Amino acid sequence: VAQKIILDCDPGIDDALAIAFAVGHPGLELCGITTVAGNVGLDLTTSNAQRVCEFIGAAGMPVTPGSPAPLLRPLVDARGVHGDTGLGGVRLPSPMARPSGGHAIDFLIETIGAAPGEITLVATGPLTNIALAVRREPRLVSQVRDFVIMGGSAGRGNVTPAAEFNIATDPEAAAIVFRAGWTVTMVGLDVTLQAQATAQVRDQMRVLGRLAGELLLPGLERYATDMDPLPALPKAGGQAAEEDLEAAGPVAQAAGHPARLATQAAAQQSGREPGGPPVHDVCAVAHVADARLLGCIPARVEVETMGRWTSGMTVTDFRAPAAGCNALVATEIDVSAFWELALGTYARLAAAMS
Ligand code: RIB
Ligand code: CA
Repeated sequence: VAQKIILDCDPGIDDALAIAFAVGHPGLELCGITTVAGNVGLDLTTSNAQRVCEFIGAAGMPVTPGSPAPLLRPLVDARGVHGDTGLGGVRLPSPMARPSGGHAIDFLIETIGAAPGEITLVATGPLTNIALAVRREPRLVSQVRDFVIMGGSAGRGNVTPAAEFNIATDPEAAAIVFRAGWTVTMVGLDVTLQAQATAQVRDQMRVLGRLAGELLLPGLERYATDMDPLPALPKAGGQAAEEDLEAAGPVAQAAGHPARLATQAAAQQSGREPGGPPVHDVCAVAHVADARLLGCIPARVEVETMGRWTSGMTVTDFRAPAAGCNALVATEIDVSAFWELALGTYARLAAAMS
């Protein structure tokens, strides 16, 4: 029987590919989507989730918006990586349906509470909605069948040397979530940076009809190509203008000159690694579909919220005693098996769309 999941996300190119995977995989039943501000603002993450669902034949999918901003910090988005629309080069029609009424937090609490032990919650954006939901209904942590996130890293970050985007965007929310009492399956950069949509992978997608032509490829190719034009270089010796720093993202705000650091940060986050853009969020959903893809190790994870240079770091202790572990941290991925599953799932979805 298919595994029920709810996806809390911030589409986002890789979030969009995660939605397509969740709808396409026969072993998964996507019961609903909740959206959060992250890669782009909440209105866009919500309409992006809706337009993707309508495009792939899941028009009736409930899409319920949640938090328009992190708990305490201003939103520092990732338009430099995902483009101003949040979906890179993807041009899908505006959604026909309106978002579901109500708030994401209530959707999560009511839907999971009505089916205790049945629904796996997957979060692929900042954890703002999840933090508010567990604060409002602490029993959520025992009602979910499982809780899986794309986020964090036991090693390096991508928006700063220490922090991965989803955690760095709302460290306070992540701290609440990791301390809520459940075991968080943390699918972080340690494995997701290996899930690169290489030119060879993208070539294999080209036969997948409209799904590839209008979603997968225009999304990935934007991800893989250059970033938005960088803010104008301030005069030599001058301080970067506030708006330039704002536009340049967290690495630049951490220290100094936007142009250089923003390129580095955006390139890191979009994973313009030699192979191609990493489809971070698809890894989290694929793990639910087939737990053999990832190797996970118990650990204690604490989220740094005060560090001047390390805010948003998921401080991972693999030596913690079992009783102190609050996470299963993914440390290995079978990359070829991942792409075999992902491409097979997209092929199934493409066939259903034709
Ligand atoms: O660091 C990668 C994560 O940040 C992914 O979820 C991507 O969508 C962005 O939100
Ligand atoms: Ca995301």
